[in-house]
Amino acid sequence: MPLNKKDLLEIQELSSDDIKLIIDTADSFKEVTGRDIKKVPTLRGKTVVNLFYEPSTRTRTSFELAAKRLSADVLNIAVSTSSVVKGETLLDTARNIEAMRSDIIVIRHSAAGAPYILAKGLKSSVINAGDGCHEHPTQALLDMFTIREKKGRLDGLTVAIVGDITHSRVARSDILERQGKSYFPDIREYSMQYCLTKERLKFAKDDAIVMHPGPVNWGVEISPELSEDKSTVILEQVTNGVAVRMAVMYLLSGEKATAS
Ligand code: CP
Repeated sequence: MPLNKKDLLEIQELSSDDIKLIIDTADSFKEVTGRDIKKVPTLRGKTVVNLFYEPSTRTRTSFELAAKRLSADVLNIAVSTSSVVKGETLLDTARNIEAMRSDIIVIRHSAAGAPYILAKGLKSSVINAGDGCHEHPTQALLDMFTIREKKGRLDGLTVAIVGDITHSRVARSDILERQGKSYFPDIREYSMQYCLTKERLKFAKDDAIVMHPGPVNWGVEISPELSEDKSTVILEQVTNGVAVRMAVMYLLSGEKATAS
């Protein structure tokens, strides 16, 4: 069953069958990423462009690695050293990149809705890698993948989302460093109210897992004593992100790509 989509802009546009397809496909690609030679020719000849207007560690490198493991060519555009600083618009920048025959453009932007402008104006597939406080769909997909991997299912589970949800695009994970204005007098106050500690985790089920999209503010959002705890699966989320992004790029490429 194909995904039948040109772009991935938000989770809301995906049906539960679409999500299952992506997660099932990611399962196969996770097997590939566990091999000695972690590469398949699926997107050979395709070009993936990472266009990040905001900083990123996990998402940008994860998309780059995912594209390389699918044998695509990858371009990373450093916006700070591009003609964006001379005033070139988002759409003009993307159109010029597309003129060099890109197939997939991965965009992160501080403005909610920026990926929609590109999806409308370009023939390339556009993947939202985070737009303002709006969405970060591949993070949500890798979270779901990780939950299913750990729990064996998604249905019927209770998920507690803790923190400053208002400002986070992934269950709103951003906190004081990234707020435009302070909703807490200081970080200590935030930590006292919301920091997940071993003691607080006792309110969850014995087999509860602790997840975070990163970057983690240790000691503010999560107590450092939980970093090595068996309940914490934060680095496994990062590992799974590569397989999930391989699946998304493969499925958006549709029949033009051949998995092996
Ligand atoms: N989870 C996430 O989006 O991390 P980065 O900001 O490092 O990409």
